[in-house]
Amino acid sequence: MKEQMNIVIVGHVDHGKSTVIGRLLADTNSLPEGKLDQVRENCKRESKVFEYAFLLDALKDEQSQGITIDSARCFFKSSLRDYIIIDAPGHIEFLKNMISGAARAEAALLIIDADEGIQENSRRHGYMLSMLGIKQVVVCVNKMDLVDYSKSVFDKIKSDYSEFLGNVGITPKEFIPISALKGDNIIKGSESLSWFEGNSVLSSLDSFKKEKSEEEKPFRMFVQGVYKFTRKGDSRRIIAGRVDSGSIKVGDKVVFFPSNKSSEVSSIECLNSTRTEVSAGHSTGFTLKEQVYINRGEVMCRKDERTPYVSSSIKSNIFWMGKESMVLDRWYKLKLGTLEVPVRLKKVFDVLDASSLDGCRRNEINRHDVAKCLLECKSSAAFDMFSEINASGRFVIVDDYDIAGGGIITGFVEDKRNVVWHDREITREERSKILGHRSKMIWFTGLSGSGKSTVAVALQKKLIQEGKMVYVLDGDNVRHGLNKDLGFSEMDRIENIRRIGEVGTLFVDSGLITLAAFISPYTKDRNIVRNRLGDDFIEVFVKCAIDECEKRDPKGLYKKARKGEIKEFTGVSAPYEAPKNPEITVDTSKLSVQESVDKIYDYLASNDVI
Ligand code: ADX
Repeated sequence: MKEQMNIVIVGHVDHGKSTVIGRLLADTNSLPEGKLDQVRENCKRESKVFEYAFLLDALKDEQSQGITIDSARCFFKSSLRDYIIIDAPGHIEFLKNMISGAARAEAALLIIDADEGIQENSRRHGYMLSMLGIKQVVVCVNKMDLVDYSKSVFDKIKSDYSEFLGNVGITPKEFIPISALKGDNIIKGSESLSWFEGNSVLSSLDSFKKEKSEEEKPFRMFVQGVYKFTRKGDSRRIIAGRVDSGSIKVGDKVVFFPSNKSSEVSSIECLNSTRTEVSAGHSTGFTLKEQVYINRGEVMCRKDERTPYVSSSIKSNIFWMGKESMVLDRWYKLKLGTLEVPVRLKKVFDVLDASSLDGCRRNEINRHDVAKCLLECKSSAAFDMFSEINASGRFVIVDDYDIAGGGIITGFVEDKRNVVWHDREITREERSKILGHRSKMIWFTGLSGSGKSTVAVALQKKLIQEGKMVYVLDGDNVRHGLNKDLGFSEMDRIENIRRIGEVGTLFVDSGLITLAAFISPYTKDRNIVRNRLGDDFIEVFVKCAIDECEKRDPKGLYKKARKGEIKEFTGVSAPYEAPKNPEITVDTSKLSVQESVDKIYDYLASNDVI
C-alpha cells in the first residue's frame, strides 16, 4: 500500500482554502472520473464562472450521501504518497479530534491572502498549530495574481509572519507564493513567479517526513491484568494487555514502569496458541521467567530499547469538554492506557479558546478551551511524549465518571522525591489470617450532628467485643494532629479527605477494619478514596435532615453558624452532596443507634467481611 499522510489546511475564511484544496485535487488527477467536467458543466448551465472551490463542495455533497469517501476526508496523491486532508467542520471538532488522537494531522498548510495580508485569524491559526504540536508547516501566500506577483509583497508577509510564528515556536519549512486560482506553484512552478526558486506546494509536502509506524517504535504495553494459571501446581502468571507499539519476542528482557521491576519473557500466550514474537496491535499475554508482582496500569517495556519517562508532574496540552471548568488543585482522574490515577491541575500556562481561537491567560480551563498546563498526579506515572509514541503519550481526564478532557503529553518535570512503592513481603492475606477477618474501609458520610461518629463508635464496640481489630478515624480527632493545619474551606476539606483516604488505605493494608467518620461533603473526594480502595470501600450514608441535626446540635455549632460566628458551616453556609449510590444508608432520624449498627453489621456479615 502506498504511504499515507494526514494534513490539515488552515486559513482565514476568504483566503482561498477551498480553492487550494480544489486545485490540489484537480491538478494531481485525484478526482473521481468525470467530476471536473461535471462541475464545469453545472457552472455553465447555471451561468456561473467555474471555481476550483466548487470541487470541494461537490465532493462533500457526494460524501454526505455516503457515495465516495469517508466523511470529512479528502485524498490527493503525489508520486510519493497519498495525502488525506483532515477537514473538520469547525475548529472545535478539529481540536477535539487532534487532542484525542481520533484524527491526527502530521503536517499543515497555512494559507494567507497576499492581497489582504496577515489577519488576526492568521495569527490564531499559527497559535493553534503550535498548541497541537504540529511542527511540519508550509505557509502558502495565496492570490499572488491579485498583487501582480510582486516579490516585495511576498517578502513582507514572509518576514512579518515568520516573526510571529517564531514567537509561538513554529519554524515553517518554507513560504511559497501561489495562485490557487491560476494554478501557480501548486504542483509546478510558473513563469509569473519566476523570481521564486523554492518548491511547489506538492513537492514541499513531499519533502515532509512521515512519522514512524507504531510497530517501528519502542515496545509498550499497558498491563490490563495479571492472571494466574488455574491448573494445580502451576504457579505461573500471565501478564495480559494489548501491545500499543513495537514488538517483542521470547527471551527479551523486560522492565515494568513505574515500578522498575524487571524480568524476561518466557512465553507469549495467545488464544489457544503460543508464539515466539508479537507486535503492535495485538492483544496478548506473557509469562515471565522470574515472577514480578505488578499492577494493572504499569507499562511493560523492553530493556534494550528507550524506556518511558516516569514522573508525577506532566506538561500537556489539554482539550476540555467538561460542563464544569477544570480548576486548580481539584482532584480528577487521569486515564493513561490502563493506568488510572488521581490528578490535579497545578498551573495553566496558556489558554486557547477553540471557538474564537483567542489566546488568553487564566487559571481555569473552560469548555472548548485548549490549554497548555502542568498536571500533578497523585503517584508517578510512566508515559512518553505524544510526538514520539502516541498511545503512551495521550490521556483522558475523568471528572465525576464523565470524560471531561483529553490531552497530549508534551513534557514533564522531574520528580524530586524519586520514591517507589515497595511491597513489603507480608501480604494482607497473611495478616488477615492472624486476625481472622478481612480488612475494609467503612466510610461514614453525613452532616454534622447526623450521628456518624456515634454509630461508628457503637459499631466498633460490637466488633471489638467479637475479637475483631477495628479503629475509628473521625473529624474531631484527626483534626487535632495529622490535619491540624486544615480548616473548612473547600480546598482544605479536599485535602482533609485525601489524607484520611491515604492513612485509611494504610490502615486497611495493615489488616484493620477501619471506620472513617467525616462529613466528607464532596462526592468527588469520596469517590477518589473509593477508587483508591476499590472493593475495600464501603460507603455508609448517615442520613438525617438538617432540621433534625440542628435540633440536636450536640456541640452548639449550628447555633454559632446561624449567628455567623462560624463561617462555611456544612448545611448552613457550605454545601453537602449526599451520596447517590452508597452501599448502605442509615436514617438516624428513624433508626436508633443500635438499629443503625445492626443494619451495617448485617451488610458486613452477608458480604463475607466478618
Ligand atoms: S470535612 O467536611 O472536612 O469532612 P470533618 O468531618 O473533618 O469535616 O470535620 C467536621 C467537624 O468539624 C464537625 O463535626 C464539627 O465538629 C467541626 N467543624 C468546625 N467548623 C466546621 C465547619 N465550618 N463545617 C463543618 N464542621 C465544622
